[in-house]
Amino acid sequence: MADYITIEHSPALSGRVVVAGAKNSVLKLMAASLLIEGVTVLQNVPHIADVEIMGQVLQALGVKVNWTAPHELTLDGHHLASHTAPYELVAQMRASTAVLGPLSGRCGQARVALPGGCNIGSRKIDMHIAGLEALGAQVCIEHGYINVQVPASGLLAAEVLLEFPSVGATENLIMAAVRAQGTTIIKNAAREPEITDLVTFLQEAGVGIEGAGTAELAVTGTTKVNEVCHRVIGDRIEAGTFLVAAAMTRGDIEVEGVDPDHLDIVLRKLEAMGAHIERGPQSIHLHDADKLRAVDIQTLPYPGFPTDMQAQFMAADAIAEGSSLVTENVFENRFMFADELGRMGADISIEGHYALVKGGTSLSGAPVISPDLRGGAALVLAGLVAEGTTTVHDVYHIDRGYEDFCSKLASLGARITRQSEPD
Ligand code: UD1
Repeated sequence: MADYITIEHSPALSGRVVVAGAKNSVLKLMAASLLIEGVTVLQNVPHIADVEIMGQVLQALGVKVNWTAPHELTLDGHHLASHTAPYELVAQMRASTAVLGPLSGRCGQARVALPGGCNIGSRKIDMHIAGLEALGAQVCIEHGYINVQVPASGLLAAEVLLEFPSVGATENLIMAAVRAQGTTIIKNAAREPEITDLVTFLQEAGVGIEGAGTAELAVTGTTKVNEVCHRVIGDRIEAGTFLVAAAMTRGDIEVEGVDPDHLDIVLRKLEAMGAHIERGPQSIHLHDADKLRAVDIQTLPYPGFPTDMQAQFMAADAIAEGSSLVTENVFENRFMFADELGRMGADISIEGHYALVKGGTSLSGAPVISPDLRGGAALVLAGLVAEGTTTVHDVYHIDRGYEDFCSKLASLGARITRQSEPD
């Protein structure tokens, strides 16, 4: 049965909400458990569909995956049974490709289905492959699979300059380099907080890595990666989504469980829109939003504005005073939800990777389809301020990355429910 979400025009959100562990961190930490010939314990793990899929990928490789507490996952990687990540699973979640690096490092070979395109663009994998080749692996693509073969002498450290600070390529390269002989230098590395979390995890497991949070990482290979228990950082995108919801409804909320520094540019943009923000050590208080003013945004690698917050801000810009220009620099096709927002009355013109948003429109509730994870969340936010009833369909996209999205919004006063529709 397919679920859908119904949202009625809602009052100003108020109260406190705790965010879950970061999706984009936990998926890579789970993949990194492949490097450990022992037990990995991850705490603050979100209950989201993508974690289940990564669990299935790891189980297919021989890792024993168990929930040992409500938000604690235990991964036993003593014995691997396979080096193949099958198409049925990789096709469901692109981030499955994060097993490429650790599998190559640990097993000397990896066979991972090519993920193909996705709803936000073609998303190439060339930098992941070039990185592995630089470490001495032979990579060929055959029958829809990426086949990696490491020479009998193992991977050899190298200096790798990434063409673009790709999050996934940086992570795969770090994890492969953990098992390479010598110190690998990754230049133009991505600097997202989730990468720093992966580096912290590996350091806790005894791996020597320098440069966390900078564009140059030095990873010293080792044959022994220790067992580790690690707490996943809070999800900055989930936090940002609630904050935009609060600003749109001119609410007063406290978001807990996230480092405000991870959302620096997002918080500055919310302030520029007219919201008042106070930063705690692991919390953010948004209150007294004036009438929203439109802001321009352009997505860039961290610490630039996150592409994963672009859709939510476009929904806010649609109701804000003034016009704004939204520039998407990271993905080629990430405006699909704008058409759905248009069905609710938003005035948005798309030209290549630019979107011109004419603000000040009153949105009206409508049935809409969630085109992808963040676009789906943005449509829910639009529903909170739209007059009448909005129904968001294809909510499986939202389930990929948000734990209990509806209940958390409802606990802040949103008039939102989730239903199942018969097949
Ligand atoms: C990760 C995040 C995603 C976020 C994105 C950018 C996960 C599970 N997903 O995705 O939520 O939106 O970072 O912050 O962590 N590219 C190439 N060749 C490559 C690799 C990437 O051309 O080998 C391109 C992609 O097509 C894309 C851009 O680089 O246009 C950014 O991709 P990347 O940073 O790799 O994002 P992901 O790791 O896929």
